[in-house]
Amino acid sequence: MCGIVGYLGTKPAYPILLKGLKRLEYRGYDSSGVAIINNDELEMFKCKGKVVNLEGIVDEKAMTGTIGIGHTRWATHGVPNDVNAHPHMSENSELAIIHNGIIENYGPLKTELIKRGYTFQSDTDTEVLIKLIEEIQKKGKFDLFEAIRFALKEVVGAYAMVVINKKNPDQLIAAKMGSPLVVGIGKDNEFFFASDATPIIEYTKNVVYLEDGEIAIVDRQNGLKIRTIHNKTVKPFIQELEMNLETLELGGYPHFMLKEIYEQPRSVKDSMRGRIQVNTGTVSLGGMRDYLDQMVNAKRIIIVACGTSWHSALLGEYLIEDLARIPVEVEYASEFRYRNPVINEGDVVIAISQSGETADTLAAIKLAKSKGALIYGICNVIGSTIARESHTGSYTHAGPEIGVASTKAFTAQLTALMLMALVLGKEKGTIEAPTFQRLLVGMDALPDKIEKVLKTNDVVYSIAEKFKDVNNMLYLGRGVNFPVALEGALKLKEISYIHAEGYPAAEMKHGPIALIDENMPVIIIATKDASYEKVVSNMQEVKARGGVIIAIVTEGDTQVKSIADHVIEIPITESILVPFLSVIPLQLLSYHIAVMRDCNVDQPRNLAKSVTVE
Ligand code: M6R
Repeated sequence: MCGIVGYLGTKPAYPILLKGLKRLEYRGYDSSGVAIINNDELEMFKCKGKVVNLEGIVDEKAMTGTIGIGHTRWATHGVPNDVNAHPHMSENSELAIIHNGIIENYGPLKTELIKRGYTFQSDTDTEVLIKLIEEIQKKGKFDLFEAIRFALKEVVGAYAMVVINKKNPDQLIAAKMGSPLVVGIGKDNEFFFASDATPIIEYTKNVVYLEDGEIAIVDRQNGLKIRTIHNKTVKPFIQELEMNLETLELGGYPHFMLKEIYEQPRSVKDSMRGRIQVNTGTVSLGGMRDYLDQMVNAKRIIIVACGTSWHSALLGEYLIEDLARIPVEVEYASEFRYRNPVINEGDVVIAISQSGETADTLAAIKLAKSKGALIYGICNVIGSTIARESHTGSYTHAGPEIGVASTKAFTAQLTALMLMALVLGKEKGTIEAPTFQRLLVGMDALPDKIEKVLKTNDVVYSIAEKFKDVNNMLYLGRGVNFPVALEGALKLKEISYIHAEGYPAAEMKHGPIALIDENMPVIIIATKDASYEKVVSNMQEVKARGGVIIAIVTEGDTQVKSIADHVIEIPITESILVPFLSVIPLQLLSYHIAVMRDCNVDQPRNLAKSVTVE
């Protein structure tokens, strides 16, 4: 986690860094800071808490320097406080560093540096890194690039880092291993560094995504040079960003989460765009084309992911097994990689990740790749590490998701998985032609139906008012609605801090039923499908124990209405497509409850959007 940003150019650096930090704040908001060469001095400001606190301690008018670095932190080593905030300085106060990642062997390095007379202000691994660079530079009389290169050879761990040098106000040096780093190339030797492209997009669309082991030097005279840690020259591969600035702004919404919930008719459409043609009855995913044989003939598919993406993965299992009859296993990426999994050559591993940076998912695919599996990445962030590490894959095209709680990324992931299941099923001949066509029509109608579900917002709001003060909630669903129940519970707990659990409805009687009383509201997804009658029976069991029921039902349902205390209606669709609709009221419910409880919806406590630590 952590967001880093750097600027070298002709404009004052501070406003550019500040705006960049606000864009990257989703990556962590425990503290923030900047270091700028201003009137020949290396000036540093940093403090605990959000970027807004930093604004309070910097006199913007006095900050005219045109080179600087900035950092927003998600604490790993050392509590969130002013001292542990980045940047960190060298002992002689001539160098400053910002860093995203973890230096695993910082302990022994620190001990050695202390023996050599270095003192440490913070508890961070990053301060060790900058002092190691300083020591190597001093001892070997190296220039800064060489000192950084040698220091990185001694380091074990992950980093994206940028170093600024008071003695050279014309140069920034950055390096990457494991954590993401993008270089933006403006006009006339203006350069940007950032953890993702969002701080860069309004200045230039030309970017270079650094690869692991690369060190980038940007210089007012010599432009951008990239060398590896082994001192080999690399020709920068410049790409054009496709991002749109509007997607990074609130656009009149009070929170990004609400904006992103409301964007779903469009984002689901964008995920399908060019991939589905109802009139010709065709579905295609560019990423599958060259690997179709291997995927169709796979003995099994393993899907690895974390958090909300893991819930999509569970749905992927339902969709692929049902439509393509290929066995699917779903794994938490963090568990998969540590349990010596059986992976055979020819296995297909699908990695799902909104950010494309989740460290556990990344490590899981590296492991699977090393054992000969085909890696198919389903990512939202274009150019992200998981997308680049995969053999092939599909972008979800949901557009930037800024709220920490994942919403539109979830439905976009479902879209990609559904398309994949349809392609595999058609190719394998496991879907009958009329069913295939009905599903295409159903998919095509989803954006309008999501729009309709969003119109239940007032009903959801009044339910939120009634339940905003509860301490626990239970979410139940069966079949494809079981992962939706898990997702609803995750949404509620992560942004409102209410304890919530998701369960398969039928599992309730194996334990959770003991919790049910008038203080435990139960949300039941009871749409009309094969298990409807069974779910209705589960509802009766809840009612019999004094439970309060909020039900998500298919429009026109009367049976559930007569049992539940509150109902939210969603339009009729194919059973397998219901999650696209049933999840929306749950997203809205958690949003409203969190706002009513005065929680920071877009930046919930202790969380970060992109979890780049293992
Ligand atoms: O970027 P990823 O999809 O890999 O992120 C995985 C999880 O960290 C993420 O889904 C997290 O659970 C969200 N906060 C859920 O809303």
